[in-house]
Amino acid sequence: MLELDPRDELLCLRSAEPLSESAGMVLPGIAQASIFRKETMEELHRDLARENVASVYSRGTNPTVRVLEHTLAGLERGEACKCFASGMGAIGATLFGLLKAGDHVLFVNDIYGPTLELARRLEDFGVSHDHVLATDMEAIGAAFRDETRIVFMESPGSTLLHRLDIAAIARLARERGALSVIDNTVATPLLQKPIELGVDLVIHSCSKYIGGHSDAIGGALIGSGELVERVFYNAYMLMGAIMPPLEAFLFLRGLMTLPTRIRRHHEDALAVAKHLDHHPAVARVFHPELAEDGGARPEGWRGHSGLFSFELAEGGFAGAVAVANRLRLFGNAVSWGGAESLVITGHKSDPVRAPGNAPRVPAGLLRLSIGFEGIDALTGDLDRALAS
Ligand SMILES: Cc1ncc(COP(=O)(O)O)c(C=O)c1O
Repeated sequence: MLELDPRDELLCLRSAEPLSESAGMVLPGIAQASIFRKETMEELHRDLARENVASVYSRGTNPTVRVLEHTLAGLERGEACKCFASGMGAIGATLFGLLKAGDHVLFVNDIYGPTLELARRLEDFGVSHDHVLATDMEAIGAAFRDETRIVFMESPGSTLLHRLDIAAIARLARERGALSVIDNTVATPLLQKPIELGVDLVIHSCSKYIGGHSDAIGGALIGSGELVERVFYNAYMLMGAIMPPLEAFLFLRGLMTLPTRIRRHHEDALAVAKHLDHHPAVARVFHPELAEDGGARPEGWRGHSGLFSFELAEGGFAGAVAVANRLRLFGNAVSWGGAESLVITGHKSDPVRAPGNAPRVPAGLLRLSIGFEGIDALTGDLDRALAS
């Protein structure tokens, strides 16, 4: 069985205790308030000077959101956390909050598409970027520039699921005077701890496994108190992409079952991936724990969650669309991390093939998010869809 840190299991279950103990509630109340009155004007003035931690106005700090922030900071072993309206809210505020004209950002590995679109938008404000797809340290080192201020990585990436040597990249960033940032959404806070590997800031889209039920959108940024505070005052308060208290409640509820869900996602996805790995209609499976992509187990890695991809042996993009349409148990949907299994093709239209230059994401790629329908039911559905 997937081994998780026992401290995390308790933290996920008991996160809400300090706030809700007195009322005997398992989860904190939803503090549905925009403002918080203070006894005196002096108290108000004092809290206005520390709006990143004190409840003054819910665009800054809200008590229910604060419980989630404490919990996520604890799970990621960071000093501080700020929660956002979405993962993109966290990514946007981090880049806006820490960069200025003349700076350069280095993106490494598969990067979520809208993150790169945002980077292209930042070019208009004098922030340049490069994107390195290779995962070897030589290629990554060569892409640094004197002006590189942030190295932004995803590991595992969310399409081809390649893993990076996170500790080595964080070390290199530090040596070169840059901050390291990781989008840790695929691994969740349970399966790898980037801050323990030397990474400065960790980002999550809570909309996936943390919520776990495909019913809430949110994001989080975790790191040192100093860095999170800089993002808070430079971007969070100014851009207003805040997490509402109801969402914080839903994410705290999601966290209570995260360890149990992640164990099941891990086991079932690995079993389905192994099944497909031996299937004659499948050219290749992209799963971090299968031999071809596995490589060395990164430091601190506990296992993989429920997201992986595979490439059809024949049929290309049209074949992938046809297989997706034949699947009955996998919903055609974006995103991942919920209780129900999902499928999406790697492309939205047939990728144009320049001669001798195959697209990095194969045309016949399908990405699966494995839910809880059961291994036999899911492999049976896949076998049927792949047979026709
Ligand atoms: C890896 C990754 N990071 C970030 C995001 C953005 O998160 P959100 O949709 O919560 O803005 C996504 C969304 O799909 C994602 O897949």
